[in-house]
Amino acid sequence: MTPAELLLRRYAVQGLVAEAGRMALDYFGRKESLGVSMKGTQDWLTVADGAVEDFLRARLAQLFPGDTIIGEEGGGEASDAVWIIDPIDGTANFAHGDRNWCVSIGFLLNREPTIGIVAAPALDELYVAQRGQGATLNGQTIAVSGADDIRRACIELGWSPRMPAQRYLDMMSRGYAAGCSIKRAGSGTLGLCNVANGRTEGYAELHINAWDVAAGIVIVGEAGGWVSDFFAGDGISHGNPILCCTPALASQLRDITGIS
Ligand code: IPD
Ligand code: CA
Repeated sequence: MTPAELLLRRYAVQGLVAEAGRMALDYFGRKESLGVSMKGTQDWLTVADGAVEDFLRARLAQLFPGDTIIGEEGGGEASDAVWIIDPIDGTANFAHGDRNWCVSIGFLLNREPTIGIVAAPALDELYVAQRGQGATLNGQTIAVSGADDIRRACIELGWSPRMPAQRYLDMMSRGYAAGCSIKRAGSGTLGLCNVANGRTEGYAELHINAWDVAAGIVIVGEAGGWVSDFFAGDGISHGNPILCCTPALASQLRDITGIS
């Protein structure tokens, strides 16, 4: 793929994600139209998830018919040029009226995370990153925090019932014992973006799916963060653990989380 073809993808999809964000925000403002249901314990679904994913799939297929698409709701196949969509990340927040949710698209070229775009319209934030080209928030360049003292660090630990609660609690205990401040805000994608813009020093989760992190990995990497090799093995189809953080804290956080 030529640099021009990549740039075209980034600009086209930036507009598309912003449009999808406005569509999701419209649902968010009409709580009675959300059609909330549960896919499992703490696994939320609203009609907005399906509608936003359908919209993005249709537009991507028109724009780039040779690329493949994987989405949280509709699945799909990997290829050398694959878009990975999370129509609403932080669906539990979305359904509760909490503004910490986003629309996210990552693009992998030859298995390398290459473009990441995240719109958090209820927060009025748009993140854009391309491999080798830096990361921006609302057009301004962003960078990870320079913090290097774990006793001043704030880290987010993502949780889902896909992993035993005890492993999450053990990771949290080790973090508190080392002096970290710990939080959980309910959107893995925005958790990575918050490392990228220096609001936190790290994000870790024992298992997360590709659509939750495909965009954020590019954003945090381009903002100067250290990121674990999420796409190793069958990460794209079955998920993997994720750790991303400031480079200065990587070694300590690898020990605390057990994620390398
Ligand atoms: C979830 C959120 C959550 C993370 C979970 C994800 P969803 O995605 O990103 O923060 O901890 O692993 O499944 O269900 O809101 O799209
Ligand atoms: Ca998600």
